[in-house]
Amino acid sequence: MRSKTLAILAAGVGFSLALTACGANQETPAAGGSGQSQAPSAGGVKVGVILPETATSARWEGFDKPMLEAAMRAEGLDADIQNAQGDVQKFSTLADGMISQGVKVLVIAAINSEVGSAVAAKAKARGIPTIDYDRLNLGGSSEYYVSFDNVKVGELQGQGLADALKGKQGAQVIEIEGAPTDNNATLFYNGQQNVLKPLYASGALKLVQSQPIDGWDNQKGGVTFEQILTGNGGKVDGVVAANDGLAGAVITVLRKNGLNGKVPVTGQDATPDGLMAVLRGDQYMTVFKPIKAEAEGAAKLAAALAKGDTAAADKIAGQSSDDPKGNRKVKSLLLEPKLTTKNEVKTVVAEGYVKATEICGGELAAVCAQLGIG
Ligand code: BGC
Repeated sequence: MRSKTLAILAAGVGFSLALTACGANQETPAAGGSGQSQAPSAGGVKVGVILPETATSARWEGFDKPMLEAAMRAEGLDADIQNAQGDVQKFSTLADGMISQGVKVLVIAAINSEVGSAVAAKAKARGIPTIDYDRLNLGGSSEYYVSFDNVKVGELQGQGLADALKGKQGAQVIEIEGAPTDNNATLFYNGQQNVLKPLYASGALKLVQSQPIDGWDNQKGGVTFEQILTGNGGKVDGVVAANDGLAGAVITVLRKNGLNGKVPVTGQDATPDGLMAVLRGDQYMTVFKPIKAEAEGAAKLAAALAKGDTAAADKIAGQSSDDPKGNRKVKSLLLEPKLTTKNEVKTVVAEGYVKATEICGGELAAVCAQLGIG
Protein backbone atom coordinates (compact mmCIF):
# COMPACT_ATOMS: atom_id res chain seq x y z
CA MET A 1 0.00 0.00 0.00
CA ARG A 2 2.77 2.37 1.00
CA SER A 3 4.68 1.62 -2.17
CA LYS A 4 1.57 2.17 -4.24
CA THR A 5 1.04 5.58 -2.70
CA LEU A 6 4.66 6.47 -3.32
CA ALA A 7 4.41 5.43 -6.94
CA ILE A 8 1.33 7.55 -7.40
CA LEU A 9 2.90 10.53 -5.66
CA ALA A 10 6.10 10.25 -7.62
CA ALA A 11 4.30 9.79 -10.91
CA GLY A 12 2.28 12.86 -10.02
CA VAL A 13 5.42 14.98 -9.85
CA GLY A 14 6.01 14.35 -13.53
CA PHE A 15 2.63 15.76 -14.36
CA SER A 16 2.84 18.87 -12.28
CA LEU A 17 3.96 20.88 -15.31
CA ALA A 18 1.19 19.58 -17.50
CA LEU A 19 -1.35 20.05 -14.76
CA THR A 20 -0.24 23.60 -14.14
CA ALA A 21 -0.58 24.26 -17.84
CA CYS A 22 -4.02 22.69 -17.79
CA GLY A 23 -5.09 24.75 -14.82
CA ALA A 24 -3.97 27.90 -16.55
CA ASN A 25 -5.62 26.81 -19.74
CA GLN A 26 -8.94 26.24 -18.07
CA GLU A 27 -9.18 29.97 -17.48
CA THR A 28 -9.68 30.47 -21.20
CA PRO A 29 -12.93 28.58 -21.75
CA ALA A 30 -14.38 30.04 -18.57
CA ALA A 31 -13.59 33.56 -19.69
CA GLY A 32 -13.91 33.34 -23.46
CA GLY A 33 -16.26 30.40 -23.52
CA SER A 34 -16.09 28.04 -26.45
CA GLY A 35 -19.85 27.99 -26.33
CA GLN A 36 -20.01 31.74 -26.77
CA SER A 37 -18.75 33.25 -29.95
CA GLN A 38 -15.38 34.92 -29.72
CA ALA A 39 -14.75 37.96 -31.86
CA PRO A 40 -13.03 36.65 -34.98
CA SER A 41 -9.74 38.29 -35.88
CA ALA A 42 -10.07 40.59 -38.89
CA GLY A 43 -11.10 38.46 -41.84
CA GLY A 44 -10.28 35.28 -39.91
CA VAL A 45 -12.25 32.20 -40.82
CA LYS A 46 -13.34 30.35 -37.68
CA VAL A 47 -11.96 26.88 -37.09
CA GLY A 48 -12.61 24.76 -34.01
CA VAL A 49 -9.93 22.45 -32.59
CA ILE A 50 -10.59 19.97 -29.77
CA LEU A 51 -7.66 18.23 -28.10
CA PRO A 52 -8.33 15.12 -26.01
CA GLU A 53 -6.47 15.29 -22.69
CA THR A 54 -3.67 16.90 -20.75
CA ALA A 55 -2.66 14.20 -18.27
CA THR A 56 -1.96 11.39 -20.78
CA SER A 57 0.92 13.29 -22.35
CA ALA A 58 2.51 16.70 -21.95
CA ARG A 59 2.44 17.00 -25.76
CA TRP A 60 -1.16 18.26 -26.07
CA GLU A 61 -0.76 21.46 -24.09
CA GLY A 62 3.02 21.75 -24.45
CA PHE A 63 3.41 21.23 -28.20
CA ASP A 64 0.11 20.80 -30.06
CA LYS A 65 -1.77 23.77 -28.64
CA PRO A 66 0.86 26.48 -29.24
CA MET A 67 1.94 24.97 -32.55
CA LEU A 68 -1.64 24.73 -33.82
CA GLU A 69 -2.27 28.31 -32.71
CA ALA A 70 0.70 29.58 -34.69
CA ALA A 71 -0.03 27.41 -37.74
CA MET A 72 -3.69 28.41 -37.90
CA ARG A 73 -2.80 32.09 -37.56
CA ALA A 74 -0.27 31.74 -40.38
CA GLU A 75 -3.07 30.41 -42.60
CA GLY A 76 -5.28 33.38 -41.69
CA LEU A 77 -7.60 31.21 -39.62
CA ASP A 78 -9.19 32.22 -36.34
CA ALA A 79 -8.84 29.04 -34.30
CA ASP A 80 -10.66 28.26 -31.07
CA ILE A 81 -8.50 25.55 -29.49
CA GLN A 82 -9.92 23.72 -26.47
CA ASN A 83 -8.98 20.62 -24.49
CA ALA A 84 -11.63 18.14 -23.32
CA GLN A 85 -9.44 17.02 -20.37
CA GLY A 86 -10.27 13.36 -20.95
CA ASP A 87 -14.00 13.95 -20.44
CA VAL A 88 -16.13 12.61 -23.32
CA GLN A 89 -19.12 14.68 -22.23
CA LYS A 90 -16.99 17.81 -22.30
CA PHE A 91 -15.67 16.78 -25.72
CA SER A 92 -19.17 16.77 -27.22
CA THR A 93 -20.22 19.94 -25.40
CA LEU A 94 -17.18 21.74 -26.78
CA ALA A 95 -18.03 20.49 -30.27
CA ASP A 96 -21.66 21.66 -29.92
CA GLY A 97 -20.43 25.09 -28.84
CA MET A 98 -18.06 25.36 -31.78
CA ILE A 99 -20.70 24.24 -34.26
CA SER A 100 -23.12 26.87 -33.00
CA GLN A 101 -20.31 29.47 -33.08
CA GLY A 102 -20.24 28.88 -36.82
CA VAL A 103 -16.85 27.24 -37.30
CA LYS A 104 -16.12 26.41 -40.93
CA VAL A 105 -13.98 23.37 -40.12
CA LEU A 106 -13.63 21.18 -37.03
CA VAL A 107 -10.28 19.54 -36.17
CA ILE A 108 -10.64 16.73 -33.64
CA ALA A 109 -8.19 14.63 -31.64
CA ALA A 110 -10.78 12.50 -29.93
CA ILE A 111 -10.66 10.69 -26.59
CA ASN A 112 -12.05 7.61 -28.33
CA SER A 113 -13.51 6.73 -31.73
CA GLU A 114 -17.05 6.70 -30.41
CA VAL A 115 -17.17 10.32 -29.32
CA GLY A 116 -15.01 11.37 -32.28
CA SER A 117 -17.36 9.70 -34.75
CA ALA A 118 -20.44 11.16 -33.06
CA VAL A 119 -18.99 14.67 -33.29
CA ALA A 120 -17.95 14.17 -36.92
CA ALA A 121 -21.46 12.97 -37.81
CA LYS A 122 -23.04 15.99 -36.12
CA ALA A 123 -20.72 18.38 -37.94
CA LYS A 124 -21.31 16.63 -41.24
CA ALA A 125 -25.06 17.00 -40.84
CA ARG A 126 -24.47 20.75 -40.72
CA GLY A 127 -22.11 20.74 -43.69
CA ILE A 128 -18.99 21.30 -41.58
CA PRO A 129 -15.99 19.24 -42.73
CA THR A 130 -13.96 17.52 -40.00
CA ILE A 131 -10.30 16.56 -39.86
CA ASP A 132 -9.17 13.73 -37.58
CA TYR A 133 -6.05 15.03 -35.87
CA ASP A 134 -3.42 12.54 -34.67
CA ARG A 135 -6.01 9.86 -33.76
CA LEU A 136 -8.15 8.25 -36.47
CA ASN A 137 -11.77 7.71 -35.46
CA LEU A 138 -12.65 4.17 -36.48
CA GLY A 139 -16.08 3.95 -38.03
CA GLY A 140 -16.11 7.74 -38.33
CA SER A 141 -16.88 10.06 -41.22
CA SER A 142 -13.99 12.56 -41.32
CA GLU A 143 -12.65 12.62 -44.84
CA TYR A 144 -9.16 13.74 -43.83
CA TYR A 145 -6.60 12.59 -41.28
CA VAL A 146 -3.32 14.19 -40.22
CA SER A 147 -0.91 12.18 -38.09
CA PHE A 148 2.36 10.28 -38.11
CA ASP A 149 3.24 6.87 -39.45
CA ASN A 150 2.13 5.27 -36.19
CA VAL A 151 3.17 1.72 -37.06
CA LYS A 152 6.64 3.17 -37.63
CA VAL A 153 6.47 4.80 -34.17
CA GLY A 154 5.96 1.32 -32.70
CA GLU A 155 8.72 -0.16 -34.84
CA LEU A 156 11.14 2.47 -33.55
CA GLN A 157 10.16 1.57 -29.98
CA GLY A 158 10.59 -2.15 -30.68
CA GLN A 159 13.92 -1.51 -32.42
CA GLY A 160 15.12 0.70 -29.57
CA LEU A 161 14.42 -2.00 -27.03
CA ALA A 162 15.95 -4.73 -29.21
CA ASP A 163 19.12 -2.65 -29.62
CA ALA A 164 19.34 -1.98 -25.91
CA LEU A 165 18.95 -5.68 -25.04
CA LYS A 166 21.19 -7.01 -27.80
CA GLY A 167 23.27 -9.96 -26.65
CA LYS A 168 21.22 -10.42 -23.49
CA GLN A 169 19.78 -13.81 -24.43
CA GLY A 170 16.31 -14.46 -22.97
CA ALA A 171 15.99 -10.94 -21.54
CA GLN A 172 12.61 -10.53 -19.86
CA VAL A 173 10.35 -7.84 -21.26
CA ILE A 174 7.21 -6.20 -19.85
CA GLU A 175 5.01 -4.19 -22.22
CA ILE A 176 2.92 -1.26 -20.89
CA GLU A 177 0.71 -0.21 -23.79
CA GLY A 178 -1.64 2.70 -24.53
CA ALA A 179 -5.44 2.86 -24.35
CA PRO A 180 -7.23 0.04 -26.17
CA THR A 181 -9.79 2.63 -27.34
CA ASP A 182 -7.12 4.69 -29.13
CA ASN A 183 -6.42 3.35 -32.63
CA ASN A 184 -2.90 4.77 -32.35
CA ALA A 185 -2.18 2.49 -29.39
CA THR A 186 -3.08 -0.50 -31.58
CA LEU A 187 -0.80 0.77 -34.36
CA PHE A 188 2.07 1.37 -31.90
CA TYR A 189 1.60 -2.17 -30.58
CA ASN A 190 1.52 -3.64 -34.09
CA GLY A 191 4.72 -1.82 -34.98
CA GLN A 192 6.47 -3.00 -31.81
CA GLN A 193 5.43 -6.58 -32.53
CA ASN A 194 6.83 -6.37 -36.08
CA VAL A 195 10.22 -6.14 -34.42
CA LEU A 196 9.76 -8.01 -31.14
CA LYS A 197 7.60 -11.00 -32.13
CA PRO A 198 10.39 -12.78 -34.04
CA LEU A 199 12.72 -12.16 -31.08
CA TYR A 200 10.17 -13.63 -28.64
CA ALA A 201 9.70 -16.56 -31.02
CA SER A 202 13.42 -17.30 -31.25
CA GLY A 203 13.93 -16.99 -27.50
CA ALA A 204 16.27 -14.00 -27.88
CA LEU A 205 13.78 -12.13 -25.70
CA LYS A 206 11.08 -13.39 -23.36
CA LEU A 207 7.73 -11.65 -22.98
CA VAL A 208 6.58 -11.54 -19.35
CA GLN A 209 3.29 -9.73 -19.99
CA SER A 210 1.77 -7.13 -22.28
CA GLN A 211 -0.83 -4.87 -20.70
CA PRO A 212 -2.92 -2.10 -22.32
CA ILE A 213 -3.66 0.82 -19.97
CA ASP A 214 -7.18 2.29 -20.07
CA GLY A 215 -7.24 5.95 -20.98
CA TRP A 216 -3.43 6.10 -21.21
CA ASP A 217 -3.66 6.69 -17.43
CA ASN A 218 -0.04 7.16 -16.45
CA GLN A 219 -0.54 6.42 -12.76
CA LYS A 220 -2.49 3.28 -13.52
CA GLY A 221 0.40 2.33 -15.82
CA GLY A 222 2.83 2.58 -12.90
CA VAL A 223 0.62 0.55 -10.57
CA THR A 224 0.06 -2.12 -13.24
CA PHE A 225 3.76 -2.31 -14.01
CA GLU A 226 4.55 -2.72 -10.32
CA GLN A 227 2.05 -5.59 -10.02
CA ILE A 228 3.51 -7.37 -13.03
CA LEU A 229 7.04 -6.85 -11.73
CA THR A 230 6.14 -8.22 -8.31
CA GLY A 231 4.34 -11.17 -9.91
CA ASN A 232 7.52 -11.94 -11.84
CA GLY A 233 9.60 -12.04 -8.67
CA GLY A 234 11.01 -8.54 -9.19
CA LYS A 235 12.74 -9.57 -12.41
CA VAL A 236 12.68 -7.42 -15.55
CA ASP A 237 15.32 -6.67 -18.19
CA GLY A 238 13.49 -4.27 -20.49
CA VAL A 239 10.22 -2.34 -20.69
CA VAL A 240 8.18 -1.22 -23.66
CA ALA A 241 6.32 1.87 -22.42
CA ALA A 242 4.09 3.32 -25.13
CA ASN A 243 4.79 6.98 -24.32
CA ASP A 244 6.93 9.17 -22.10
CA GLY A 245 4.17 9.54 -19.49
CA LEU A 246 3.88 5.79 -19.00
CA ALA A 247 7.69 5.51 -19.12
CA GLY A 248 7.94 8.06 -16.29
CA ALA A 249 5.56 6.02 -14.14
CA VAL A 250 7.51 2.82 -14.90
CA ILE A 251 10.83 4.50 -14.07
CA THR A 252 9.45 5.61 -10.70
CA VAL A 253 8.75 1.95 -9.85
CA LEU A 254 12.15 0.86 -11.18
CA ARG A 255 13.87 3.51 -9.05
CA LYS A 256 12.10 2.24 -5.95
CA ASN A 257 13.53 -1.17 -6.72
CA GLY A 258 17.03 0.12 -7.48
CA LEU A 259 16.62 -0.84 -11.15
CA ASN A 260 16.40 2.53 -12.90
CA GLY A 261 19.21 3.08 -15.39
CA LYS A 262 19.82 -0.67 -15.51
CA VAL A 263 16.61 -1.61 -17.31
CA PRO A 264 16.03 0.04 -20.70
CA VAL A 265 12.62 1.69 -21.07
CA THR A 266 11.10 3.04 -24.30
CA GLY A 267 8.90 6.11 -24.70
CA GLN A 268 7.35 8.54 -27.14
CA ASP A 269 6.61 12.27 -27.53
CA ALA A 270 9.98 13.79 -26.65
CA THR A 271 8.43 15.62 -23.70
CA PRO A 272 10.74 17.61 -21.40
CA ASP A 273 10.38 14.92 -18.68
CA GLY A 274 11.01 12.16 -21.23
CA LEU A 275 14.09 13.86 -22.63
CA MET A 276 15.48 14.41 -19.12
CA ALA A 277 14.95 10.71 -18.35
CA VAL A 278 16.82 9.86 -21.55
CA LEU A 279 19.69 12.19 -20.57
CA ARG A 280 19.80 10.65 -17.07
CA GLY A 281 19.98 7.19 -18.65
CA ASP A 282 16.73 6.07 -16.98
CA GLN A 283 14.91 5.92 -20.33
CA TYR A 284 16.66 4.38 -23.32
CA MET A 285 14.79 6.24 -26.04
CA THR A 286 11.83 8.38 -26.94
CA VAL A 287 10.18 8.97 -30.30
CA PHE A 288 10.36 12.54 -31.52
CA LYS A 289 7.29 13.35 -33.61
CA PRO A 290 7.68 16.76 -35.29
CA ILE A 291 4.32 18.08 -34.14
CA LYS A 292 4.95 21.46 -35.77
CA ALA A 293 4.61 19.77 -39.17
CA GLU A 294 1.48 17.96 -37.98
CA ALA A 295 -0.05 21.26 -36.82
CA GLU A 296 0.93 22.99 -40.07
CA GLY A 297 -0.54 20.16 -42.13
CA ALA A 298 -3.81 20.38 -40.21
CA ALA A 299 -3.91 24.17 -40.63
CA LYS A 300 -3.25 24.03 -44.38
CA LEU A 301 -5.90 21.36 -44.77
CA ALA A 302 -8.37 23.38 -42.71
CA ALA A 303 -7.67 26.49 -44.82
CA ALA A 304 -8.32 24.53 -48.03
CA LEU A 305 -11.51 22.94 -46.70
CA ALA A 306 -12.80 26.26 -45.36
CA LYS A 307 -12.62 27.53 -48.94
CA GLY A 308 -14.25 24.37 -50.22
CA ASP A 309 -11.09 23.63 -52.20
CA THR A 310 -11.10 19.83 -52.01
CA ALA A 311 -8.53 19.54 -54.83
CA ALA A 312 -6.00 21.42 -52.67
CA ALA A 313 -6.99 19.36 -49.62
CA ASP A 314 -6.55 16.10 -51.53
CA LYS A 315 -3.09 17.23 -52.60
CA ILE A 316 -2.05 17.86 -48.97
CA ALA A 317 -3.52 14.53 -47.80
CA GLY A 318 -2.09 12.39 -50.60
CA GLN A 319 -1.60 9.29 -48.44
CA SER A 320 -4.21 6.94 -47.11
CA SER A 321 -5.09 5.21 -43.83
CA ASP A 322 -7.24 2.17 -43.19
CA ASP A 323 -10.34 2.36 -41.09
CA PRO A 324 -11.04 -1.34 -40.57
CA LYS A 325 -14.22 -0.66 -38.61
CA GLY A 326 -15.74 1.64 -41.23
CA ASN A 327 -14.23 -0.51 -43.97
CA ARG A 328 -12.94 2.60 -45.71
CA LYS A 329 -9.78 4.45 -46.61
CA VAL A 330 -9.20 7.95 -45.26
CA LYS A 331 -7.14 10.56 -47.14
CA SER A 332 -4.12 11.23 -44.97
CA LEU A 333 -1.01 13.21 -44.32
CA LEU A 334 1.31 10.93 -42.32
CA LEU A 335 4.59 12.35 -41.08
CA GLU A 336 7.80 10.59 -40.13
CA PRO A 337 8.68 9.91 -36.48
CA LYS A 338 12.31 9.89 -35.34
CA LEU A 339 14.08 7.53 -32.96
CA THR A 340 15.67 9.62 -30.22
CA THR A 341 18.30 8.23 -27.91
CA LYS A 342 20.73 10.33 -25.87
CA ASN A 343 22.69 11.30 -28.97
CA GLU A 344 19.65 12.70 -30.78
CA VAL A 345 18.26 14.84 -27.94
CA LYS A 346 20.09 17.84 -29.38
CA THR A 347 17.94 17.64 -32.56
CA VAL A 348 14.78 18.15 -30.50
CA VAL A 349 16.38 21.19 -28.87
CA ALA A 350 17.73 22.52 -32.19
CA GLU A 351 14.25 22.27 -33.71
CA GLY A 352 12.87 24.45 -30.91
CA TYR A 353 10.63 21.90 -29.15
CA VAL A 354 12.34 22.32 -25.81
CA LYS A 355 14.89 24.80 -24.57
CA ALA A 356 18.24 23.56 -23.31
CA THR A 357 17.54 25.46 -20.08
CA GLU A 358 14.39 23.35 -19.57
CA ILE A 359 16.21 20.03 -19.61
CA CYS A 360 19.85 20.72 -18.78
CA GLY A 361 19.67 21.96 -15.19
CA GLY A 362 21.48 20.59 -12.14
CA GLU A 363 22.77 17.04 -12.45
CA LEU A 364 22.15 17.05 -16.22
CA ALA A 365 24.40 20.04 -17.00
CA ALA A 366 27.46 17.84 -17.50
CA VAL A 367 25.81 15.34 -19.83
CA CYS A 368 24.27 18.19 -21.86
CA ALA A 369 27.69 19.82 -22.24
CA GLN A 370 29.16 16.49 -23.29
CA LEU A 371 26.41 15.98 -25.90
CA GLY A 372 26.71 19.53 -27.22
CA ILE A 373 23.22 20.56 -26.10
CA GLY A 374 22.69 24.22 -25.39
C1 BGC B 1 -0.65 10.04 -29.33
C2 BGC B 1 0.59 10.03 -28.46
C3 BGC B 1 0.22 10.30 -27.01
C4 BGC B 1 -0.93 9.39 -26.55
C5 BGC B 1 -1.44 9.77 -25.17
C6 BGC B 1 -1.66 9.06 -28.77
O1 BGC B 1 -2.81 9.01 -29.55
O2 BGC B 1 -0.31 9.73 -30.67
O3 BGC B 1 1.50 11.00 -28.93
O4 BGC B 1 1.32 10.07 -26.18
O5 BGC B 1 -2.00 9.46 -27.46
O6 BGC B 1 -1.90 11.09 -25.15
